[in-house]
Amino acid sequence: NAFFKPIEQTAPPSPTKRHTKISVIGAGNVGMAIAQTILTQDLADELALVDAKPDKLRGEMLDLQHAAAFLPRTKILASVDYAVTAGSDLCIVTAGARQIADESRLNLLQRNLTLFSAIIPPLARYSPDTLLLIVSNPVDVLTYVAWKLSGFPSNRVIGSGTNLDSSRFRFLIADHLDVNTQDVQAYIVGEHGDSSVALWSSISVGGVPVLSFLEKQQIAYEKETLESIHKEVIQSAYEVIHLKGYTSWAIGYSVANLARSLLRDQRRIHPVSVLAKGFYGIDGGEVFLSLPALLGRGGVLGVTNAHLTEEEAQQLRDSAKTILEVQSQLGI
Ligand code: NAD
Ligand code: LAC
Repeated sequence: NAFFKPIEQTAPPSPTKRHTKISVIGAGNVGMAIAQTILTQDLADELALVDAKPDKLRGEMLDLQHAAAFLPRTKILASVDYAVTAGSDLCIVTAGARQIADESRLNLLQRNLTLFSAIIPPLARYSPDTLLLIVSNPVDVLTYVAWKLSGFPSNRVIGSGTNLDSSRFRFLIADHLDVNTQDVQAYIVGEHGDSSVALWSSISVGGVPVLSFLEKQQIAYEKETLESIHKEVIQSAYEVIHLKGYTSWAIGYSVANLARSLLRDQRRIHPVSVLAKGFYGIDGGEVFLSLPALLGRGGVLGVTNAHLTEEEAQQLRDSAKTILEVQSQLGI
């Protein structure tokens, strides 16, 4: 490079210097929302994009590269060849079919299962130490599929799960109470989809547990309001898909939030899809669904031992059953 006159280096670069590489598979609405959030939040030194459509892929890569003057420095690569993902710290899979209006997530399984057998083995081969974060739907079943196809230990295979549903839940509660969403703690667990489970006793606002507050104040029980908020959460994606054809921005932020907790070893607790066998009385088989999980550089570091009412625990087991029934048709 004739542009610079090199300066002699007195010491080699520190071997502990961190170089972070993230790969995003699928450069559609969701993949690109995730990619651009990762860039703006300065989460990677290198970002590799993979898609099956070479022109669309190159177009997206160039468009992002052209924003370099306004962003923290990240090397952006793109290819239809998985070699571009080699040495990734985190691989995020968003490729695949999405729902049309009123279609359920579970209905996408057969189409996306075929794609996963072409996507996961090369990813695992090129980045044997990577964390895998699955976003394509139905996310819980496909996270199980990715675990099986990768041969990775289960702590390195995570589904974006109900991190998004919980954000929708927190937003709607905050909107109802007219407070900041970040001051609302509330978890939705189970399937990312129609059988998700709201943990009512987990709701607190500014540290005040909402249910016991309402009971103590003898305020007419707002449980119906809360239940209608949960129904609204379940309907959220259907409504957005009706209106704009797909969902993208919220999942983009949700996944970037997970990427930060994982790669920056934040040890934050997120409701994400993990191997749930053995937790909360789930023992019907190997099933991935969302539980409050402690996330750090090693992936899933633990699962919170939250107090569930008998009703919530039963709903969680029912959610596991729904996913297992779908899974049993896979033949893997
Ligand atoms: P999209 O159609 O915009 O993008 C999908 C991309 O996948 C396309 O660019 C397509 O070319 C690519 N693709 C298809 N086959 C491929 C292959 N074999 N290898 C590489 N790339 C391939 O769809 P979208 O709106 O981005 O949604 C993507 C997926 O994410 C869907 O399954 C959707 O249901 C899911 N999703 C999940 C969540 C969640 O919370 N988990 C949220 C939103 C969307
Ligand atoms: C969501 C997708 C469709 O936005 O799973 O919830």
